[in-house]
Amino acid sequence: MPASPTYGELTNQGASTNIAWHQASVDRSGRAEQRGHRSAILWFTGLSGSGKSTLANAVNAALFERGLATYVLDGDNVRHGLCKDLGFSDADREENIRRIGEVAKLFLDAGVIVLTAFVSPFRADRDKARALVESGDFLEIHCAADLEVCESRDPKGLYAKARAGQIKEFTGISSPYEAPDSPEMAIDTGSQDLAASVDVVIKALQDRGVIPPA
Ligand code: ADX
Repeated sequence: MPASPTYGELTNQGASTNIAWHQASVDRSGRAEQRGHRSAILWFTGLSGSGKSTLANAVNAALFERGLATYVLDGDNVRHGLCKDLGFSDADREENIRRIGEVAKLFLDAGVIVLTAFVSPFRADRDKARALVESGDFLEIHCAADLEVCESRDPKGLYAKARAGQIKEFTGISSPYEAPDSPEMAIDTGSQDLAASVDVVIKALQDRGVIPPA
């Protein structure tokens, strides 16, 4: 595969001039009042196979059942569209996470609880996404399953390919994963069962006043 062009080449970054911010007449607080819940970004991070997508989708279903506005942005899916021009070099991952941070911010403004499920291996990139929004709006959830567990699960057969040298720069094998220092939640998705993990996240959202109490 040819090397991906750098972001500046792709988008002419920084070239927008003569533009002004248009203040919308419907705002986030109006949406929250109408819907009866706040919006938030639930940022799931962890190794491939750690259960990010599984947990994000299960939390999403639990929130949806309560009638709340939610959406899941998932790495494998977003890389089929918005980020299909990006590979897995450090620079491409940085750009991937930058775009997801910006999209998540739009969802936040739209009054939606947005759940992002990306490896997002670099602390600095996650911190930049966090810095786009007010504190309290970004909840980092570390799906903290050990590499050994993720590799033994190997749901897509990618670890085997990475070990065989067929995939370069594979997170945990030939590319680093920087675990969060102080995530809002760290969930042992290696051993804790799914329903218990969902309960932890739902309770945290209630305790923080994002969603109403049960
Ligand atoms: S990220 O590093 O930029 O955050 P992202 O979450 O979008 O990654 O995509 C990760 C998914 O792509 C993994 O779940 C896996 O299925 C697949 N994948 C393919 N190649 C790699 C690789 N080299 N490293 C990690 N994941 C990969």
